Amino acid sequence: MSVVDEIKSRVDIVDVASDYVPLQKAGRNFKARCPFHTEKTPSFTVNPDRQAWHCFGACATGGDVFSLVMRAERLDFGETLKLLAQRTGVTLSQERQGGRSDILYRINQEAVRFYQKALSSPEGRRGMEYLAERGVDADAISTFQLGLSLRGRDRLKGHLRGLGFDTRQLLETGLLHRGEDGETRDFFWGRLMFPIHDRQGRVSGFGARSMDGSDPKYLNTAATPVFDKRATVYGLHMAAASIREQRTVVIVEGYMDAITAHQYGYKNVVASMGTALTEQQVSQLKSIARMFVQAMDPDAAGQEATLRSLESTYRVLKRQLGQSAEFELKIAELPAGRDPDDLIREDQGEWERLVREALSFVDFALPAFAARYDLSTAQGKAQAAETLLPLVTTTTNSFEQERYFQRLAQVLGVSREALEASIGRPKAASYNRGGSARGRGPARVASVSPLMSQREDFLEDYVLALLLGWPELRERAGSVSPAQFHRTENREVFTHWLGCSTIDELQDVLDDTLRKHLAYLGQIDISPADRGSAETALGQSLGRLEQSHLREMQEGLLASDDATSPPSRELEETIVSVNSRLKELFTQR
Ligand code: UTP
Ligand code: MN
Repeated sequence: MSVVDEIKSRVDIVDVASDYVPLQKAGRNFKARCPFHTEKTPSFTVNPDRQAWHCFGACATGGDVFSLVMRAERLDFGETLKLLAQRTGVTLSQERQGGRSDILYRINQEAVRFYQKALSSPEGRRGMEYLAERGVDADAISTFQLGLSLRGRDRLKGHLRGLGFDTRQLLETGLLHRGEDGETRDFFWGRLMFPIHDRQGRVSGFGARSMDGSDPKYLNTAATPVFDKRATVYGLHMAAASIREQRTVVIVEGYMDAITAHQYGYKNVVASMGTALTEQQVSQLKSIARMFVQAMDPDAAGQEATLRSLESTYRVLKRQLGQSAEFELKIAELPAGRDPDDLIREDQGEWERLVREALSFVDFALPAFAARYDLSTAQGKAQAAETLLPLVTTTTNSFEQERYFQRLAQVLGVSREALEASIGRPKAASYNRGGSARGRGPARVASVSPLMSQREDFLEDYVLALLLGWPELRERAGSVSPAQFHRTENREVFTHWLGCSTIDELQDVLDDTLRKHLAYLGQIDISPADRGSAETALGQSLGRLEQSHLREMQEGLLASDDATSPPSRELEETIVSVNSRLKELFTQR
């Protein structure tokens, strides 16, 4: 697998896009007002099945997650590759940053030592008292390498400069920052320090708690070349062995929750550093855990945002684990006003019970999703049933499915027989085979069609391989738009190629990753032996490519039309022109 594909397999375009713009569900797709131009009606759509985005408005373009990030962050392909590689934990083969990262880890490690020493020094008395008040024992303090940042503008800076690190490197770790006066100074002052380790146990960043009630309560290292909150699972290096043994990971929210859990012997507990598990976090857990138990406080449990975030976690798990093995997401709802830290200290039996009796995601989600519909009307019930049925059929275990089916009937307030009559009894096997899984709403968790998108991608590869292999056909490229290439690597190679006259020249302007992609394209068997048949093959393939591009647009256009408001003129015009072009292509064949 190429690095680009590896990265794509680890991110969900829906997650990435929602970092830039609030997405609204529209059938199986999502829509929003386009983040790249100003508009009143939403014409930006994201298709989770194809992992594609498209703007049908002024931009009139789209693509994959790479082109999305390139646009949103105004980066070139190489920079985007680096950014996404770091987010997903994919190592770039040439790893030009290798040497540089090593130094950042070394600096962080020295800082840990300095903070630890400070905590046990007379100056650190307040820190030790605070930890004692919170009941953190000596063992936990030392395993989690807790420490203290001293008050003063350059306590750490002085120490690290003394060890020979230069200011530029120190700034890069986020341990120093530059004030408005241009001076560099310590970033963390007078706080309890929680080193954050990566999976290999290297210190990548820090969390820092204030002890005097000052805000913010926690301050974290900002993004650095070695630290990305979204790619970090706090405590994982300590918890991995136990997670592997139990095949279960328990996810809490806070640093203190994780530390207390470990202190009391619950060693498979990690903290998520946010709410929903990201692709990057799941990709670190998926080889060791099958059961994911998310601890949740009851305030959060009732919120729409929580439901969305759980749904996103579920989708991520499904994408990464759905094919290979059974996995489970469970929700352990905490008593009101308690976090795991308090609860474990007060009542371990209760904590164990909560984790053991955690609700499956489906049991949790059925009533929560149903609450979005007006269940007092038959129409509302029917809509809810249509949306929720796919959730019920996500399990292949027929016993469980039967139970979920009954639960659905109960949630909707209809008899099991009535539900059965209205929608038909789901078959366990319908999962992943289209059919009912192709409904609306949460259906998309089960409706990914990798085969389909692979075939389309290959068509692009083939077209490009033909163009590269038959320089004589170059003039045919005039009618090809870069936007027709969905894969950013293809689009990049194509646009660079337009500006080059030979393959050698092209190789010179491409970066490593794209050069590898070019080599791959060069290996594709493009069969045609003579110019005439190559031309025919190219013509046919271009037709098919355009057709699939238009189909995709058509589908997106229909999805973005929410039927509540009349479509904008712009949208209407696009629909008409897409349809007529499709017809044209069809009659040509
Ligand atoms: P909590 O406030 O629930 O954390 O925030 P906690 O660990 O229970 O805190 P205390 O020490 O017991 O009061 C949960 C997590 O959210 C992040 C931190 O990762 C924290 O552990 N957070 C919270 C911040 O990053 N900044 C904040 O200001 C607060
Ligand atoms: Mn707490």
